[in-house]
Amino acid sequence: MSAQDIQAIPVAGALGAEISGVDLSKDLDNASFDAIHQALLDHCVIFFKDQDISPEQQLGFAKRFGGIHHHPYMQGMPDHPDIFEILKTETDPHNFGGVWHVDQMFTPKPNMGTILYAKEVPDAGGDTLFANMYAAYDALSEPMKSMLSGLKVLCVGDRPGKKSRKERYKALNGVKMNDEDLGVRSSEHPLIRTHPETGRKSLFIGSHVETIAGMTKEESDPILDFLRKHAVKPEFTCRFHWDKGSMAMWDNRCTQHNAIDDYAGQRRRMHRITVSGDTPF
Ligand code: OGA
Ligand code: MN
Repeated sequence: MSAQDIQAIPVAGALGAEISGVDLSKDLDNASFDAIHQALLDHCVIFFKDQDISPEQQLGFAKRFGGIHHHPYMQGMPDHPDIFEILKTETDPHNFGGVWHVDQMFTPKPNMGTILYAKEVPDAGGDTLFANMYAAYDALSEPMKSMLSGLKVLCVGDRPGKKSRKERYKALNGVKMNDEDLGVRSSEHPLIRTHPETGRKSLFIGSHVETIAGMTKEESDPILDFLRKHAVKPEFTCRFHWDKGSMAMWDNRCTQHNAIDDYAGQRRRMHRITVSGDTPF
């Protein structure tokens, strides 16, 4: 395996590429890692098929990109605290991530990327949708871009009090919550952010966004409604079908994603690692 063998084949017009020529159970030399890193920057989400890797190997891959981002109130697996197991059982009605969102957008430094590895998959269904937030930004009119520039959005995580802790736990599908008291986690971020590596602007929006800072709800809601719909137009999206051994890595600085809940009665189990990110600007 060498960098020359690595190819990134786009899966859609807007974003997403399948990476071939990589065996993630082997150590990646720097040139191979650079090729994968560049593919992530170019395609926003990258997919690997037929990988057979241990939690340590998934973690080793993640650490090539940076430190591990720890979720403020969800716990990793007992023997691998840096990895969450995302499990939906045959009888579990709840679906983790089934809304358009950016991972942990409510933290002051949202993670740069999420690495998800499929351990068990349904016969059909359980695909994940991704949307390109550079493309969503680029497609806005110039007057809209200038109106939005400089605005900040208030992003809010889990809200204690809305549901009981037990209900929240259930909604997280086997992801264990930290015992620490749950406070409201919120952060303000620029609505138009600049990617720290590519320098490109993108629309930073997702389910955690509550309001545009400084606006009344009446002012903010219609703008956010428009942006939420605009951001996920089919032409800005791709869809990934998981097989056992598939792995995806998405760049949370320029994408949104949404887990499709269409496999009731079947089981899906994933291993998830998030890589630390910067303060958005
Ligand atoms: C996540 C997530 C989507 C999926 O891990 O952050 O949203 O399809 N997962 O499991
Ligand atoms: Mn997610």
